[in-house]
Amino acid sequence: MRSRIPYSRQTIDDADIAAVADCLRSDFLTQGPQTRAFEEAAAAYVGCAHAIAVSNGTAALHLVCQGLGLGPGGLLWTSPNSFVASANAGRYMGADVDFVDIDPQTGSIDPVALEAKLSKARAANRKPDILIAVHFAGHSFGFDRVAALCAEYGVALVEDAAHAFGAAYEDDPMRKVGSHPQSVATTFSFHPLKSITTGEGGMIVTWSDSLARDLAMLRSHGITKDSAMMTHMREEDGDWYYEQHLLGFNYRICDIQAALGVSQMKRIDAFMAARRLRARRYAEQLSGLPLHLPLATDRSSWHLYVVRLDPGQASITRRALFDRLRGERIEAHVHYIPIHTQPYYRKLGFAPGDFPQSEHYYENCLSLPIYPLMTDDDQDRVVACLRDALLYA
Ligand SMILES: Cc1ncc(COP(=O)(O)O)c(C=O)c1O
Repeated sequence: MRSRIPYSRQTIDDADIAAVADCLRSDFLTQGPQTRAFEEAAAAYVGCAHAIAVSNGTAALHLVCQGLGLGPGGLLWTSPNSFVASANAGRYMGADVDFVDIDPQTGSIDPVALEAKLSKARAANRKPDILIAVHFAGHSFGFDRVAALCAEYGVALVEDAAHAFGAAYEDDPMRKVGSHPQSVATTFSFHPLKSITTGEGGMIVTWSDSLARDLAMLRSHGITKDSAMMTHMREEDGDWYYEQHLLGFNYRICDIQAALGVSQMKRIDAFMAARRLRARRYAEQLSGLPLHLPLATDRSSWHLYVVRLDPGQASITRRALFDRLRGERIEAHVHYIPIHTQPYYRKLGFAPGDFPQSEHYYENCLSLPIYPLMTDDDQDRVVACLRDALLYA
């Protein structure tokens, strides 16, 4: 039987396993030296001042919204073509959520739609407090324009870079995603299918000293053990003493996960090179088929390789193509069901038709397998199946 080709998978080697085993033999299982080492490695790699490691990418988004003081009466915007976590972060805080449609060429927020919506919002005196800009698939096309608009309209810009650890900005390839001077904070996810993994895990990077200090407290109940921050410590209080200054959570990553993260970080450049090679190969081999291919770039982290069926030209439906691939044990996927069409968001008043570009994208998109361990043979199998289905259906 032919082997299964997943749409993505983690890359774990003996060094990763040894790093985790060493941690298990050490004194620290929860936050300790590995967490600090992981944060230092991530901050240095991304090129940003502070990194705060947390339990997952969703927690990272929630904490940033909390740290920025979003609350009831507040407003968060994001794009519908994302995982629900990008929008839910605002709802956790009791804020309203709204969406800006995407540019179908990139799958990310459309700067033109953003400008139009911001201008209307200003006129109506209802500007968003936070824009969560999602680097869909690991791309950052048009991001400088999004950043400039946020600066012009006074909106806090947060980058949801769950897909984009290791990516560089399209407009400034010397900078890694997460180091943009105009972003208030950037969040990453280390779920197994992402650029690197810690099993579950996330990271926030920020230039802001005060936000970094608050986030470090918020991930652990809002508690500080830093004597310089104490406000009510008495002389008789000893080393046991701590103070809670904010209402936080237990969103700590543990050292076992961080040890894996430190080990994975050592191979991030190889992971990026392998994903970019697959993307270039798909671009060559799929040209000429009735598919819209993603914009070519070597700056993306290529978390996803999303093709769109051209319904005018293809003689097969997306569902039939998906089933054909699955029948060959090729586990293509679909990203994303537009968030506003989820039952939870419909109950809040959203309806199909609200964001047509995202809905059209969803109807025709297909995520092809892409991951560092994918071989030429694996990829040839995917391409052969697609050619067969699209040309001889
Ligand atoms: C765009 C986006 N944002 C946020 C998240 C949440 O990350 P996590 O699964 O680590 O909580 C994901 C997860 O897939 C994601 O794709």
